[in-house]
Amino acid sequence: MNEQRIGGTTGSTQLPNRTTHIIGWGHEVPAATLTNADLEKIVETSDEWITTRTGIRERRIAAKGETTASMGAVAAARALAVAGITADDVDLIVVATLTPDHLMPSTAVLIKGALGGTRAAAFDLSAACSGFAYAYAVAHGFLTAGLGQRALVIGAETLSRSVDWSDRATCVLFGDGAGAIVLEALDLEAGEEAATRPGTLSFELSADPSGAYALWIPGGVGEGADPLIKMDGAKTYVYATRTMAAVATAAIERAGLTPAQVDLVIPHQANIRIIEHVSKAIDYPMEKIFVNLDKYGNTSAASIPIALSEAVAAGRLRPGDVFCTVAFGGGYTSGAFVTRWGADPAHGARAAQVDPAGIRVVRPEGGAKADEPPVVLRDFLRGGHR
Ligand code: ACO
Repeated sequence: MNEQRIGGTTGSTQLPNRTTHIIGWGHEVPAATLTNADLEKIVETSDEWITTRTGIRERRIAAKGETTASMGAVAAARALAVAGITADDVDLIVVATLTPDHLMPSTAVLIKGALGGTRAAAFDLSAACSGFAYAYAVAHGFLTAGLGQRALVIGAETLSRSVDWSDRATCVLFGDGAGAIVLEALDLEAGEEAATRPGTLSFELSADPSGAYALWIPGGVGEGADPLIKMDGAKTYVYATRTMAAVATAAIERAGLTPAQVDLVIPHQANIRIIEHVSKAIDYPMEKIFVNLDKYGNTSAASIPIALSEAVAAGRLRPGDVFCTVAFGGGYTSGAFVTRWGADPAHGARAAQVDPAGIRVVRPEGGAKADEPPVVLRDFLRGGHR
């Protein structure tokens, strides 16, 4: 049995005449930046070590009042504006996150409240850094099964509040942010071929419990619940390099394509060395791989939708282009999907219609402790914009 695919769920689009396509996209990142030079003052590290081992130069950190729900809501509002629809046109909201505002209610419900729609079902999904691929697959299944017409698929994280800022092996890696897409059901014309039609083409999802405690947050319920990330970096690195290449290859094959027919790969933004390894392993040029981890670090479930949103804005995806996303993360999980882009990139300009100050997540009376940045970062985040 292929080790990377223990418990794997795979599949092409199920119904021959219905698929899904992306009609809206957007992202939101905090204004406050924490550079490698800042980190040198917090733990024993260096810009040189972080840059050469990971490729990360800076990351964004949520300020007081910024949370997974608030960033996810702004990203989602932008995706709705780009799609030219309102929250009431959405049947489902799925939020992939490992740093929800609370264990209950779900982040998705808080985002729904901020967006103001009445119809959508809403829930969170936990698959760590592979969460966006899992959430996309769940939304695709929901829509192709005929349960609705449109879904908001969101990846959002506030990892700065789940990082041990005295652990140099992890705290240099992670950052905060959110990305979102609107996925819509698309009925295909009779005889339309997968090789040319727009929309979602294939998935590869897997979960390997042998990594359950190599990358984890003990958390959960109970007195003294520990919310901080623990990681065996070396073991995770080895897993990541093997699984990313394997799931990307499987998803591309299932779409009936070869890597040469894929116009853009959008990998999970964890470490440039992992991405370079995948490039070599699947014989795919780095120039066609989208990378923004130097600016944001690893934003877990948010990394692929942020990268997708930036790739469209940068002119890296045109109608007719095929892209493949591929991720790995805690679980261990991994996931990939292949989609042919169909939307007009110019619609991205509509995101400017959204005033973030007008998107308000309902907070508990007196605020929540989790709304505060870690004390150790306060001196670096003063002023927000840097
Ligand atoms: N600054 C300076 N030195 C450091 C730092 C740091 N920030 N962190 C660790 N070190 C030291 C260690 O103490 C160790 O020192 P020692 O040899 O004296 O004991 C040494 O550097 C470790 O060196 P390497 O093992 O060579 O480090 P490596 O090249 O493996 O890089 C890294 C470490 C970047 C963590 C790598 O293993 C990695 O990227 N792993 C994958 C991690 C990952 O992507 N996790 C996210 C998963 S996604 C999710 O679901 C959240």
